[in-house]
Amino acid sequence: MNSSRNLLVTGGAGFIGANFVHYWRRRHEADAITVLDALTYAGNRANLASLEGSAGFRFVKGDITDRDLVAKLLAEQQIDTLVHFAAESHVDRSILGPDEFIRTNILGTHSLLEACRKVWLGATPRPNHRFHHVSTDEVYGSLGTDDPAFSESTAYAPNSPYSASKAASDHLVRAYHHTYGLKVTTSNCSNNYGPMHFPEKLIPLIIVNILEGKPLPIYGDGRNIRDWLFVDDHCQGIERVLERGRIGETYNIGGWSEVENIDLVRRLCRIADDVFKADVSLAARFPGSPCARGLQAESLITFVRDRPGHDRRYAIDCRKAETELGFAPSITLEDGLKQTFTWYLGNEPWWRAVMDGSYRNWLATQYTA
Ligand code: NAD
Ligand code: TYD
Repeated sequence: MNSSRNLLVTGGAGFIGANFVHYWRRRHEADAITVLDALTYAGNRANLASLEGSAGFRFVKGDITDRDLVAKLLAEQQIDTLVHFAAESHVDRSILGPDEFIRTNILGTHSLLEACRKVWLGATPRPNHRFHHVSTDEVYGSLGTDDPAFSESTAYAPNSPYSASKAASDHLVRAYHHTYGLKVTTSNCSNNYGPMHFPEKLIPLIIVNILEGKPLPIYGDGRNIRDWLFVDDHCQGIERVLERGRIGETYNIGGWSEVENIDLVRRLCRIADDVFKADVSLAARFPGSPCARGLQAESLITFVRDRPGHDRRYAIDCRKAETELGFAPSITLEDGLKQTFTWYLGNEPWWRAVMDGSYRNWLATQYTA
């Protein structure tokens, strides 16, 4: 392991990227971190507020497709480790408008790879470098009920514009290793949840809608299965890959935690019921919530039109990361959901600020029964 690193974290103002920056800062104080983020609707500088101005931390607003900017940062900041989170990440948005997914996820990743090739493998090479690409289990497509979980050798079969764009980026990363010798690793992770998650994704959306007494939209029959992982455990997985992963390899990261959407939403509803019972002051803070009137949060569950091409089941087999890297998810789904619910209760200004009018209008178009 390197004694100290100079990291460039793309997409570090987004959900997982920001959690990763905080995680890394807690555990690797000597390392310098530069965040490069375009601050799209999903990027939020407030996620990094506690680090602003601290030694060894730098925020740069910029686009990953800006190859000159990336090359300049790599050279001037003497970056040796690039951790690539920046992406368009929401499947529903990719169905409504794929263009931005192609631009950022495919062209953006290619641009980063070219900048790294130029700086790290160019006239003054930096042999000790790493390009870590953060990807998703969605590249493997959809599983049937009895199919084995996705392993690293499962064939790619992406079904949405989002997963197709991520699959393309994975292939480019692989090609830059095989063709040019760029030192890359890739991790494919299951669904994350936790603090600072934009409330367009299932778990934070359900939490804020329970608090505001709004419908809890369940797509289709609600029996689709996702494999959930607390975001800090994903960060742990990436840390293990950076420290112990073999160059050119891919590693699946998951939580061994498959749940049907409807069950997951019911669990969140029970947590809300219990939390409101334990703290009577919440009724005054969130008067719109059924829990404030002693009613069950489940009363808000509303089945809505299914997502087109909705993948039925994802499941990750992460035995390779466990065996080779010592990765082990540390937070149970129940504890992670409770921690997440508590975070949203304690950070109301955060989620109110990101849920502005234009976002709500867009969301409303999704709820046609
Ligand atoms: P997010 O949408 O919350 O954040 C994405 C970040 O990237 C934002 O800060 C945004 O401003 C930034 N960004 C977008 N386009 C950019 C561009 N062109 N240039 C620079 N910055 C740009 O996403 P997330 O959920 O944190 O996901 C991060 C990564 O992890 C993505 O690559 C995603 O595919 C992958 N992933 C996510 C999950 C999940 O459950 N959320 C699971 C597995 C893998
Ligand atoms: P999401 O959080 O968008 O992640 P992904 O599509 O990348 O897995 O959705 C998780 C699951 O929840 C997915 O099966 C779609 C479903 N879902 C709903 O039922 N209702 C919703 O409002 C949302 C956003 C998702």
